[in-house]
Amino acid sequence: MTDEPKSVDEAAILLRAGKLCAFPTETVYGLGADATDPDAVLAIYETKGRPRFNPLIIHCADLAMARTLAEFSPLALKAATLWPGPLTLVLPARPDNGLADVAMAGLDSVAIRIPDHPLALALLAAVGRPLAAPSANPSGRLSPTTAYQVRLGFGGRVPVLDGGPCQAGVESTIVRVEGERLVQLRAGAMARERIEQALGVPVAVAAKDAAIAAPGMLLSHYAPNALLRLDTSPRDGEAFLAFGAVPEFAGPTRNLSPSGDLHEAARNLFAMLHELDALGRPMIAVAPIPDSGLGEAINDRLQRAAAPRG
Ligand code: TXA
Ligand code: MG
Repeated sequence: MTDEPKSVDEAAILLRAGKLCAFPTETVYGLGADATDPDAVLAIYETKGRPRFNPLIIHCADLAMARTLAEFSPLALKAATLWPGPLTLVLPARPDNGLADVAMAGLDSVAIRIPDHPLALALLAAVGRPLAAPSANPSGRLSPTTAYQVRLGFGGRVPVLDGGPCQAGVESTIVRVEGERLVQLRAGAMARERIEQALGVPVAVAAKDAAIAAPGMLLSHYAPNALLRLDTSPRDGEAFLAFGAVPEFAGPTRNLSPSGDLHEAARNLFAMLHELDALGRPMIAVAPIPDSGLGEAINDRLQRAAAPRG
């Protein structure tokens, strides 16, 4: 086990020295590195086993920091009023932004967000530099919503700033600002309807099979060890991930939200999948979830977890 940072300041010292440190956000834990340090950013890819063509989200302390990294059109500035929050904006990168090329995987756009979590914001302010941070899990596996899951995923090799369980539980919504249009590249913890209502602008959804819009949206992703099956009725020998009022089942069961609340379900999703997976059953049956609001992000993660493995 590595020494764990016991405070924001200790975590900031690690990050300023070019080391990795995982930290909590409102969505999931991130595996952080100084986004201006190419070696530190490369260590993220190595530690996760992440393909280098898959760019990272750059986390900023405030809008002033974000504006040094990307061009903000009037529409982008309007969207940025939803920060801090679980919304990532893909914007044209400024050529002189100081970010390590590897962090952006050589693209001329950059994905930015300001997380809505007191420890993450304090850490970003203490480091004083943007932090590249993908979800703190080995590539292709379930995202971590507790420090314990981060330690488990990386075998204790990565220091983690522990901030308790994440409130939202699924990753940020990714939206690309294209001229006067907003296009959602990944459904996430900020429901599309909420963005539309707050900004008064429609949000289009990128076609699923379009040349992968967010390069990380590989079909099989978020994979537990067990196989997943989307079905209301679990069979003998399976584990069951339920939602709402469900039929009795004698096998191991977790309920994402007995009352059918989508926020609660999102918060519980990865933690419950981790728990059921740890039981070692070959198959997890998952109840259907309504596809509106946060259900869009939940169903996206479930479909990827259930997709045939490459
Ligand atoms: O909630 C979150 O977003 C978490 C926390 C830690 O902030 N982070 C996260 O990062 O989910 P990650 O690396 O697991 O997912 C980042 C996604 C990938 O699908 C990547 O392809 C996409 O963002 N992305 C990054 N830069 C992009 C760009 N310039 N254009 C399109 N997609 C981009
Ligand atoms: Mg991820």
